[in-house]
Amino acid sequence: MSKAHPPELKKFMDKKLSLKLNGGRHVQGILRGFDPFMNLVVDDSLEMGPGGQQNSIGMVVIRGNSIIMLEALERTLPAVPPRLVAVSKTKPPDMVVEAYRQGQRNFGENYVNELVDKASDPLILASCPEIKWHFIGHLQKNNVNKLLGVPNLFLVETVDSMKLADRVNSSWQRLRGASTQRLKVMLQINTSGEQSKHGLPPEEAVNTVKHIVSQCSALHFSGLMTIGRHGYDLTLGPNPDFQMLLSRRQEVCDSLKLPLEEVELSMGMSTDFEHAIEVGATNVRVGSIIFGNREYPNSAANTPNPSPAPSPAPSPEKSSKVVSEEAAKKMQHLTVSGH
Ligand SMILES: Cc1ncc(COP(=O)(O)O)c(C=O)c1O
Repeated sequence: MSKAHPPELKKFMDKKLSLKLNGGRHVQGILRGFDPFMNLVVDDSLEMGPGGQQNSIGMVVIRGNSIIMLEALERTLPAVPPRLVAVSKTKPPDMVVEAYRQGQRNFGENYVNELVDKASDPLILASCPEIKWHFIGHLQKNNVNKLLGVPNLFLVETVDSMKLADRVNSSWQRLRGASTQRLKVMLQINTSGEQSKHGLPPEEAVNTVKHIVSQCSALHFSGLMTIGRHGYDLTLGPNPDFQMLLSRRQEVCDSLKLPLEEVELSMGMSTDFEHAIEVGATNVRVGSIIFGNREYPNSAANTPNPSPAPSPAPSPEKSSKVVSEEAAKKMQHLTVSGH
């Protein structure tokens, strides 16, 4: 193997590369040098499957002329690592505390009453001083005041109309006074167009963001959020909901002259958060693979989360402590940032 290389490839030596090959294969690895025919020798290689799975393939030789894209991975990754929001919906405070003890800081809840109860729980208040709560459920105007009273509320991800933005804005001004920080909000977009989903129609994103930025002085517009359709088959290609959110962000940034890196993308859940990160998520909301499946009182009749079960529910004979400890281990496995 030779370290001699064409001058234009010098900057890629010993760097992690992302290589898209003819035929659609996608390999990541470290460029170590060249064979006598000037083909690339790539070590520690991973082949990326269409569903986001990764297979280790060790050292490979890749014909230079077959490469259609060569990019240093460092440059393709977001400047800020994505934030992991641990969705603790239906889970008891001690599981939140255990995950917090392992370093997790961002937690998400769907229901205002459950968030109010959990965020005010004496155990959580005493043990989790730096906790950051995300509201990720549908928000009705009559619940805004209650939500904004939540201790350590960090981000409301589900503003989905100008009227709701106005209500959140005026309530925040009234409740917290003029001197406190602006409240971070995201705009929820209904990227799949499903009737059952909340969120703003994608074509209204630009005007609504413009309204928030120009008329809602107590709010800080942080980005766009989508839930997307359940059970999308990634072998069909990148998730169109995520692609839609990316293109709406581009449109918002172009129209309103906002820097792309200041507009976050909240997308990706247990079954697809890795794919979401690969295509640009800055915030992933992950529940069941951390804490186990959610159990609802009337689960047969009442199915608030129709997504396929990605991991087995904790068995009933396991104590809450054991489940909490297992959850905490999984949190460490998901190495995403808590900024
Ligand atoms: C908006 C939202 N994001 C994320 C999640 C977490 O989903 P999962 O448990 O599949 O990770 C939920 C769960 O209800 C949710 O409603």
